[in-house]
Amino acid sequence: MILTHIAACSENRVIGTQGGLPWDLPEDMKFFRDTTKGHIMIMGRKTFDSFNGRALPNRYHIVVTRDPSKFTFNAPPTSPVVFVASLEEAVAHAKPLTDKWGEEVFIIGGGEIYKQALEKNLTDKIYLTLIHREFAGDTLYPVIDEGRFQLTARRDVSEPIPFSFLTYQKK
Ligand SMILES: NC(=O)c1ccc[n+]([C@@H]2O[C@H](COP(=O)([O-])OP(=O)(O)OC[C@H]3O[C@@H](n4cnc5c(N)ncnc54)[C@H](OP(=O)(O)O)[C@@H]3O)[C@@H](O)[C@H]2O)c1
Repeated sequence: MILTHIAACSENRVIGTQGGLPWDLPEDMKFFRDTTKGHIMIMGRKTFDSFNGRALPNRYHIVVTRDPSKFTFNAPPTSPVVFVASLEEAVAHAKPLTDKWGEEVFIIGGGEIYKQALEKNLTDKIYLTLIHREFAGDTLYPVIDEGRFQLTARRDVSEPIPFSFLTYQKK
């Protein structure tokens, strides 16, 4: 299993504001959709809430919440949604499913979940879309420790605002 963050952040590390994204970047959304399609996605309950009650098609959703018994979701079989009580439980739940849903399991946020995944060493790779502008917001992506992660790929985009697709691999 490969645990991969997929995130977009501004130069001041903002990833979210008031439960949503501070920007509209269709090319980055397409990258997210294309990359995660057919895979397992682990997320915090607030990020799941930001989908406005819709599961994303053809993905397996594992939602981390301190009270999984409180939540149920009526999902179609092509987009299962399960609720678990910790990040470790999310990873354990994902493990036997990778034969069907792919070895690469995506940690899709938000700020709390990215931070814990880095602290708990549950991160092998990071896809970071770095938007070369500062945004106001209330949720941040953690600083990447370049002693632990190495930048292995970069693709720059200039429209509609400059941003870069960065890939980091665990050293
Ligand atoms: N730009 C990006 O790439 C990106 C990606 C994802 C999200 N976002 C944005 O980020 C924001 C949401 O991030 P966030 O940091 O506020 O929330 P989050 O990480 O999505 O979810 C936090 C919730 O996860 C649960 N949780 C966290 N740690 C846990 C643990 N150790 N054990 C059990 N449950 C745990 C708790 O749910 P309960 O309260 O239910 O217990 C907690 O309230 C939104 O604005 C969203 O749009 C941006």
